[in-house]
Amino acid sequence: MPQSSAPAHIRAIAPYQAGKPIEELAREYGLDPASIIKLASNENPLGCSRRVREALAQAAADLPGRYPDANGFDLKADLAAFQDVPMNWITLGNGSNDLLELASLALLDAGLSAVYAEHAFVVYQLSTQARGARHIMVPARDYGHDLSAMLDAIADDTRLVFIANPNNPTGTHLPAADVHAFLGQVRDRYDDRVTVLLDVAYDEYLDPAERADYAGWVREFPNLIVTRTFSKAYGLAGLRVGYALAQPALTDLLNRVRQPFNVGVLAQLAARVALKDTDFLAQTHALNRRGRAQLQDGFARLSLDYVPSHTNFVLVRVGDAAAVNEQLLRRGIIVRPVAGDGLPHHLRVTIGLPAENERLLQALAGILAE
Ligand SMILES: Cc1ncc(COP(=O)(O)O)c(C=O)c1O
Repeated sequence: MPQSSAPAHIRAIAPYQAGKPIEELAREYGLDPASIIKLASNENPLGCSRRVREALAQAAADLPGRYPDANGFDLKADLAAFQDVPMNWITLGNGSNDLLELASLALLDAGLSAVYAEHAFVVYQLSTQARGARHIMVPARDYGHDLSAMLDAIADDTRLVFIANPNNPTGTHLPAADVHAFLGQVRDRYDDRVTVLLDVAYDEYLDPAERADYAGWVREFPNLIVTRTFSKAYGLAGLRVGYALAQPALTDLLNRVRQPFNVGVLAQLAARVALKDTDFLAQTHALNRRGRAQLQDGFARLSLDYVPSHTNFVLVRVGDAAAVNEQLLRRGIIVRPVAGDGLPHHLRVTIGLPAENERLLQALAGILAE
């Protein structure tokens, strides 16, 4: 049997459970796709900016039959200017998920380990397992990362520590000063033997005062990789583009294991246009802020505990989450069960448009009253 011939560490992987697509729910439950709302994958409910759509339409009209620029020169030049770092500090990824994989490919192997937090983004575990490396999961504190326990958990064979800030699926956020202190401690104790990957996929949703100067941190710490994405606030989840910032030695390693053409022509173009559309980003931030208050207030009115969110989703405790999720699906509402993240009593709800948030709250009120 082919499966039994695959390495044990590959067979041990529990496949990633993506948010259910609208078309799949429509097929399964006989619903009209237009009546379904999806609040499951932390996408931007506005889609992407009009300027991006226009640029893509124009580019699609005379798409050359050529590979993309393998080094993504134009996008990297824009990102270098935006982040105020040299171009050889940037690695492009097919979404930031790709960069998590590249880091584990470059730094992990059988006999080595990675440290990450309980309830952290599941891909840290998946990409560690895929390398046959040992994963060290550190118990969460108040749903978030316990940095001092993570520091203590670093073992002789540890080469990589993953931190999501803010974290998915809990929406928690560590103050920048705490993360900065952690980076200093790791460097002081382990020099560049241990690399820290700081995943800031939801950074654009933070209030400006909560954000940190990540490029400055990369300048300060040669053992730091910061990953960012265009999938969330920029609304380009479907195009797959993200990037990593790291000093040249680490960037060189990431690029050794990168597929040459990992970011497509249209994705590179869309990212360049999106980066410049600061109005769209501001609109997204404001909409999300209002939607977050709407959902959190609504959950409080329904006497549901939630984890105060720093992101574009809210983790809410609903009791029998599998049953509530099933009832929501029947009503054409897709949210994200998180039992696989060790949270069987919670659902993760992406913040949508005001009417979508309202529909979710009304559906929950009906289900809980039954
Ligand atoms: C914390 C975190 N990091 C990384 C990713 C990967 O996103 P993408 O590959 O679309 O950039 C996600 C997606 O949900 C995420 O939640």
